[in-house]
Amino acid sequence: MKEEILDLIKNSGDEYISGQFISEKLGVSRTAIWKYINTLKEEGYEIESISKKGYKLLSSPDILTFEELKRLLETKYIGKKIIHFHSIDSTNKQAKELASLGETNGTVLISEEQTGGKGRLGRTWISPKGKGIWLTIILTPDMEPMEVPKITQIAAAALCSSLRELGADAYIKWPNDIIMDSRKVCGILTEMSCELNRVNYIALGIGINANLDDCDFSEEVKDKATSIKMQMNKKISRKILTAKVLNNFEILYEDFLINRDLSKSLEICKRYSVVLGREIRIINRSEEYLAKAIDIDSEGRLIIETSDGNSYPIFSGEISIRGLNGYI
Ligand code: BTN
Repeated sequence: MKEEILDLIKNSGDEYISGQFISEKLGVSRTAIWKYINTLKEEGYEIESISKKGYKLLSSPDILTFEELKRLLETKYIGKKIIHFHSIDSTNKQAKELASLGETNGTVLISEEQTGGKGRLGRTWISPKGKGIWLTIILTPDMEPMEVPKITQIAAAALCSSLRELGADAYIKWPNDIIMDSRKVCGILTEMSCELNRVNYIALGIGINANLDDCDFSEEVKDKATSIKMQMNKKISRKILTAKVLNNFEILYEDFLINRDLSKSLEICKRYSVVLGREIRIINRSEEYLAKAIDIDSEGRLIIETSDGNSYPIFSGEISIRGLNGYI
């Protein structure tokens, strides 16, 4: 009911909408409406109420709920259900729990803050309240576990395109980092549950350092991480960017599922790659070696050329890539 009242108030734009009208339209008492309005105010909606005129929405809070995103979403199923948290340990952790209980394909979990955000290779992911976009998409595709790293490439392409649509000079560091000015602004953590030949579910975690400030980063990551705000010298709309990411992801993901072909995403991944054509350091558990990144193949694997002149595909799994003189 609260959502329906909010919808009516939003749709009336600059006009006042009377309690009487809402009451007749939704079949609730005016006292009940007044209570819902108070709850909305507590959630951060600024609503003016004037007797004999009614209610008018003055401003909405900067939160990533379905109510706030639905007007911007153009998807068929990604984000048609959004589970919103003000604070949670990790959206990936929670998504895996819900997915194992049968949560629907395309459900998105978003939290304003994560107290135990997870990065790749067991690292932590700094996720301060209201400053970034911390979300996980639950996917249940009919695919083999071997194919799952392709989803990371699709997500990287969707992220890079979305940032570019907002005017950000974003690049992709294979397999899962989005880079601005040689530092990381987004990361992707793709986790799954599977059997030998079949994926049960994928938890596609996306972290976007949207409006973080220098002080939000720990000393340890300061030279490797940045935010879109710090790079563009302006705050960006988390709502618009979240919707763009979900919209772009669904287009590329659907294209892949229908054609069983990654080329649309790979075209973006290659065009904006910061590793292709460069000498890189590959760190794989205890092993570390130098190679040249020469291509990304049709499976989304990075093709490297080693000093003996041979080329090999590498998988994203446990690998870290560094440039010879720093992060990229
Ligand atoms: C990485 O680059 O190491 C991956 C970072 C992924 C962070 C996101 S934030 C939302 C989701 N929940 C998590 O705990 N991690 C991912």
